[in-house]
Amino acid sequence: MVTLSPSLKARVSTPLKIGDFEVKSRVLQSPLSGVTDMVFRRLVRRYAPESMMYTEMVNATGLHYVKNLPKIMEVDPNERPISIQLFDCRPDFLAEAAVKAVAEGADTVDINMGCPVNKITKNGGGSSLLRQPEVAEAIVREVVKSVDVPVTVKTRIGWNDREIIILDFAKRMQDAGAKMITVHGRTRAQGYNGNARWEWIARVKEVLSIPVIANGDIFSVEAAVKCLEQTGADGVMCSRGTLGYPFLVGEIDHFLKTGEILLPPTPIQRLECAREHLQALWEYKGDRGVRQARKHMTWYAKGFVGAADLRGQLSMVNTVHQGFELIDYAIAQLVNGYEPEEETESSFALV
Ligand SMILES: Cc1cc2nc3c(=O)[nH]c(=O)nc-3n(C[C@H](O)[C@H](O)[C@H](O)COP(=O)(O)O)c2cc1C
Repeated sequence: MVTLSPSLKARVSTPLKIGDFEVKSRVLQSPLSGVTDMVFRRLVRRYAPESMMYTEMVNATGLHYVKNLPKIMEVDPNERPISIQLFDCRPDFLAEAAVKAVAEGADTVDINMGCPVNKITKNGGGSSLLRQPEVAEAIVREVVKSVDVPVTVKTRIGWNDREIIILDFAKRMQDAGAKMITVHGRTRAQGYNGNARWEWIARVKEVLSIPVIANGDIFSVEAAVKCLEQTGADGVMCSRGTLGYPFLVGEIDHFLKTGEILLPPTPIQRLECAREHLQALWEYKGDRGVRQARKHMTWYAKGFVGAADLRGQLSMVNTVHQGFELIDYAIAQLVNGYEPEEETESSFALV
């Protein structure tokens, strides 16, 4: 049974201060490309109204050459606190993009220095900046000059096991003017494999004065508490644990505020959420939204007999009505008596 120690309770009961901006939650919803659009963030925020959310990463060069903002940068005026995440390697384009992000309503601007995907790193963005700390520094300085909201950085511990340079890198980001750093405790070479090395996050926390957010392998309240205790971090950021589970940030936030564990949603409640997610994506993005909803629906359909078959069918739906039919049928079956599924397969088929 997880408990909230008095010392941790005291540590997390004050607002998270990102420069002058205060957030009344120590649990953050990470940026997830292809996932954290306005529809998803709205679901997460229902359970975690005070938590900071991030858009999907936005390409600053792309933004330089287009007149209209891309949909992934869209922010609802009512959704706050919100950060817009940018990626690129050009300080001037990033500074220009940051101005647009603030005009759109961003409370903070985050620079992605952790993405491991080749398409991004070969152009000098994402985690490749770990190998070019002077460029990373120039980016932060330039973006800080261009906007009056806090600028933050999200990164990894290094490029590979021979180049774990996060201590020096994080200090450079702080000196350049970053107001918070999120550290994913893996190297670029690790991708999403192996464990997140929280011990490195603890070391970063020791050498910085700005808030340090721990990221990597926060899949439960227990993991969040363990991570906060082991790292001394100022907050935790949830990522893959929220796929098909927009309840996680709220569950952790509630525990840190009250010491109570919320009852997890039942399979029926998860399927109802899947249905709502599908409908909202369809209303927001049309047929493209339905195609995007396929993966979400398969992530929700878990934990009952027949879930594997349902996932197979959901991954192929072409229309919103096919999706509704499958989900409604599964809910009706569950209402008539549900048996828990034996989980055999790995939960996340990602990149
Ligand atoms: C599908 C997917 C999309 C992601 N997109 C982004 C992104 O746009 N920006 C970013 O900084 N990190 C992105 N990440 C990385 C996560 O934010 C996070 O750092 C990583 O998944 C580690 O946390 P976890 O172990 O809790 O999943 C993505 C990860 C996944 C799985």
